[in-house]
Amino acid sequence: MKLWGGRFTKPTNELVEAYTASIGFDRRLAKEDLEGSLAHVKMLGRCGVLPQEDVEKIAEGLEELRRRLEAGTLEFDVAQEDVHMNLEKHLIDLIGPVGGKLHTGRSRNDQVALDMHLYLRREIDEIIELIVDLQRALVETAHKYLDVILPGYTHLQRAQPVLLAHHLAAYFWMFARDAERLRDARKRVDMMPLGAGALAGTTFPIDRESVARELGFGRLYENSMDAVSDRDFILEFLAAAAILMVHLSRMSEEFILWSSTEFGFIELDDAYCTGSSIMPQKKNPDVPELVRGKTGRVVGHLVGLLTVMKGLPLAYNKDLQEDKEGMFDTVDTLKGALALFSGLIRTLEVRRERLARAVAEDFSGATDLADYLVRKGLPFRRAHEVIGKLVLHCVQRSCFLGDLSLEEYREFSPLFDEDVFQALDPRRVVDARTVRGGTGTGAVKAQLERAARWLEDWSEGSDTGADPEPGDARSSAEPAAGDNQEEGS
Ligand code: ARG
Repeated sequence: MKLWGGRFTKPTNELVEAYTASIGFDRRLAKEDLEGSLAHVKMLGRCGVLPQEDVEKIAEGLEELRRRLEAGTLEFDVAQEDVHMNLEKHLIDLIGPVGGKLHTGRSRNDQVALDMHLYLRREIDEIIELIVDLQRALVETAHKYLDVILPGYTHLQRAQPVLLAHHLAAYFWMFARDAERLRDARKRVDMMPLGAGALAGTTFPIDRESVARELGFGRLYENSMDAVSDRDFILEFLAAAAILMVHLSRMSEEFILWSSTEFGFIELDDAYCTGSSIMPQKKNPDVPELVRGKTGRVVGHLVGLLTVMKGLPLAYNKDLQEDKEGMFDTVDTLKGALALFSGLIRTLEVRRERLARAVAEDFSGATDLADYLVRKGLPFRRAHEVIGKLVLHCVQRSCFLGDLSLEEYREFSPLFDEDVFQALDPRRVVDARTVRGGTGTGAVKAQLERAARWLEDWSEGSDTGADPEPGDARSSAEPAAGDNQEEGS
C-alpha cells in the first residue's frame, strides 16, 4: 500500500513505479531529510500542533533511523518511490501510526526543497575548502619555482617570456573568483522553504522562523509558490561549477601540453599518471585528461537543468525531480577534480634545463628589442619593422637573435650598441615588467603577497570579493599615498 494509496483502486503499473521512482538517487538526501523532519516535528510540538508525547516518540524514531542510516542498515524500497516516503514508511513501521503525524503541515514539495537546500549548503562549503587548498598548492609551487622563466604564449605561439610563478598565479585568481562566486551563490542556497506546503502554505499555526533558526538558515522564502518551485539556487551552483570546471580544464590542457615530449616543461609525478597496456614507454596524463573530459558533463548538467526549468508553470511539477542527478554528479565531479589537482600540482617537477633552453632559443625578446630602439629615439612602428626584418634574417639563417654579431645588428640600424645583448636576456625582459600585475619578479612577489592576503582574508571570513578600498588598490611597490585618506573618500 502506497502512503498516498487511498484514492486509488489499482496497484501502480510496474513500469510506472520504476520510471517515477527517485529513491535510486535521492537516497543521498536521507541525512538531510531526517534533519529537516526532526526540526519540523519539534516545531509542531512548540506550536501546539502535536502533543509533546507524540513529538518525543517521533523524534526518537527519527534518531533511530539516523543511527541505522549511519550504520548502513537502512533499506530503501522502490515501491516507496522516493527518500521522503521511504523514511516516513520506516518511521511508521518503527513507532506505529503516530509516525503518520510527522507530515502534518508539510508536503513533499517543500520537504524536498528543504533537503536540497540543506544538502547543497554543506557541499558548497566543502567544495570551497577544496578550492582554497588548490589555491594554496598554486602559491606554494609558485614560490618554489620563483626563478623559473617559461615562454608565454598567444595563439599558442611563443610571445613573451613570463615567470612560471606568474602563470600559476593567473589560475590562483581564477579560482579566487570561483570561490567568491560559490560563496555568493550560497546566500541563495541558505534560504528556508519549509512551511510552503504543497504550494499555498498551511492552515496549521506553524512557526517557520524557528525552523529556519534551528536549521541555521539566514533567510526564508517569502512566497510559498516560489519556495516549492525555485531551483535558481541549484542553477547558480551549476553555473559556478561549470565555470570552475572550465578553469580546471584549461589548466589540464596546459599540463597535458607541458608534459608532452614536444614541450617537456614539466614532469607529472608517477603517482598521478598511468601507463599503457601495450606501449611500455607510455606515461599518460590521464588525470588532467579526464578532468578536461568531465568538464563536458558539468556544463551539460547546467544546460540540462536550465532546459528542465524553462517551460515550467508554477508551482511544483514532477519535472523538478530531474534537478538531482546532475547536481549530485556535479558535486562528485568537482570534488574529485579539485582534490586530485592539489596533489598533482604539489608533486609536479619543473624541468628547469628544458625551460632555460626554451626561452633562450626563441624570439620572445623581440618586443623588448623594438622597445630598445624606441628608447634610442626610433618611432615604435619603425622599430617594429626593423626587428621584424631581423627576425626574418634569423629565420632564413636558422639562428636566433642572440646569435647575431653587433655588426650584423648595425646593418639593420645604426642605433644598435653593445648593450643590445643585455636587452635580449630573458631575465631582463621578464623583470622589466614592473607594472602591477605584470610578470617582473618584483611585481610577481607583490602579487603572491596579495594572494596570501586573499587567503588570510578568506579564512577570516571577511569579504575578499568586495570592491577594494583606495589603500587596498594601490600597488604594494608604490608609496602608501592613500593611507591617511578616509575610507570611501
Ligand atoms: N521525489 C520528488 C522530487 O524529487 C519529491 C517531491 C514529490 N512531490 C510530488 N508532488 N510528487 O521532486
